[in-house]
Amino acid sequence: MKTLYFISVFIHIISACIWFGGMFALIIFFLPLRKEQYFLDVVKKLGEQFKIVGWIILPLLFITGFFNLHYRGFDFSFSTTYNKIIWLKIILFFVIVIISAIHDFYIGPKAIKTRDKKLLKYSRTIGRINFILAIIMILIGIFIVRGL
Ligand code: HEM
Repeated sequence: MKTLYFISVFIHIISACIWFGGMFALIIFFLPLRKEQYFLDVVKKLGEQFKIVGWIILPLLFITGFFNLHYRGFDFSFSTTYNKIIWLKIILFFVIVIISAIHDFYIGPKAIKTRDKKLLKYSRTIGRINFILAIIMILIGIFIVRGL
């Protein structure tokens, strides 16, 4: 069981790195290109690639996260602040899934296709919200392991 737990934590952390790193690259590294004419074509190509990675990573984070909770003996009650913070992580995960789906399957593709300024702005904003949520998820992960 301990070996499985190690493997699960390993996959969880690597997945978090890939997911967060991918968003970091899209937001930070490509920002200087924003004024270039070819920018939207680059975003389209990278976005399509990252979309595939993201939708493999999110279920992996969920499955390994639940396994880690099980190994740690989490009882799914709301009895302590510790448990409530874990519940916050689970709820935020579903928020991330919903807003990622809206971004990846609706607003994002429509924004790229129509090049509508408002939709492009919404896409960027959702991307940034996801980025901030990712930081919160990592912080809660650190809290789960070490406590407050
Ligand atoms: C976007 C999604 C997620 C991200 C970015 C994320 C990130 C992380 C990171 C970076 C750690 C390592 C913390 C450390 O070792 O100090 C961690 C740990 C943990 N996460 Fe997540 N996580 C996500 C989703 C979830 C979900 C959905 C669950 C529960 C269903 C979960 C449960 C856990 C648990 C239990 C640990 C502690 C692992 C251990 O025993 O060492 N995570 N998370």
